[in-house]
Amino acid sequence: MNMVRIKKAILARMPLTVQFLVEVLAYWRRLCRYNASIRTNRDRQKMQYTILRENHIIEKGMSMRNTRRGFGQAKVTTLLEHLLQYNRLFGTEDKSFLDYPLSTIKAYIAYQHRDGVDIAAIEDTFVQLCREAGLDADALQLPAGIEMCKAADLKQQARADFESLLYSRHSMRYFQDELPSRELLEKALKLAARTPSACNRQAWHTHIYFGDESHELLRMQDGCRGFYDDIHCSIVVTADMKGFLGHEPFQCYVDGGLYAQNLINALHYVGLGTIPLSCGFMTDKLLAMQRRFGIPENETMVVIIGTGVMPDEMKIAISTRRPVAATNTYH
Ligand SMILES: Cc1cc2nc3c(=O)[nH]c(=O)nc-3n(C[C@H](O)[C@H](O)[C@H](O)COP(=O)(O)O)c2cc1C
Repeated sequence: MNMVRIKKAILARMPLTVQFLVEVLAYWRRLCRYNASIRTNRDRQKMQYTILRENHIIEKGMSMRNTRRGFGQAKVTTLLEHLLQYNRLFGTEDKSFLDYPLSTIKAYIAYQHRDGVDIAAIEDTFVQLCREAGLDADALQLPAGIEMCKAADLKQQARADFESLLYSRHSMRYFQDELPSRELLEKALKLAARTPSACNRQAWHTHIYFGDESHELLRMQDGCRGFYDDIHCSIVVTADMKGFLGHEPFQCYVDGGLYAQNLINALHYVGLGTIPLSCGFMTDKLLAMQRRFGIPENETMVVIIGTGVMPDEMKIAISTRRPVAATNTYH
């Protein structure tokens, strides 16, 4: 027997509690290698993902109901610095990556011009970056920034066919004051229950909060600064860890994630607006939130879905997608 098989055979005889410890260590090792916060600038993909996140923060800023005059300048300056760095380190490997963040910054500059804000320093750095990268700012054509949508159109498209449903769903960062009806929520929950799950265990659970409780939950979540009190209904999707066996320690996140996406689409189908909100936090924070909002410890929070009645017209972030060729590998 080779060493790997010997190690496996020994481990298989250990109590499951010890096997879990080994599993946690293996995960720790992968985190240390691949987490984007560690040695970011030494790795093109880590840098790209980090920049995409910073790019989104600018788009998201533009898609809020009320934006502060001149908002986001420090964040755009940081993004520009990171793009300059990226271009110097990896520009020759993948220059086309710059198109989307540069298009967002171009949309941001136009937005500030409409508001009559002077952002000359940002414009200078933008021009410098385009020059260094050999790109023509006028030729940047990728859809970026925000667009206006009408609720009536989105509702009609959500009902038309599956393709229209997917293309018309957008994250929304403000809603009408009126709460969504329990009838619509329950219709969406019933549709989402059609989600497949490992061995049909259906270990998902939802917790729904309205009004001040929704605002407080989102204030703690902290991914909706500037708009948490515009979201008057929050659905926490959890997965019950009691539903899974020793050989599938991470399955709860998979089943919970599949359910959550179906619920988002179902809410859109019944005519409500939605936004998924992250629960990808350290355990301390998640358990503090669970204690505060009456969610049992055996459940693990997967995502919060902010939902509500759409305003007649709203701003949405365009959130351009990467080409399929960049995310698919045929084997
Ligand atoms: C798991 C998850 C967590 C998210 N967390 C946040 C968040 O904390 N704050 C936020 O404004 N948007 C959040 N979003 C929304 C994303 O920004 C949005 O889905 C993405 O930009 C794509 O845009 P779209 O949903 O309009 O297609 C989250 C989305 C997902 C799937």
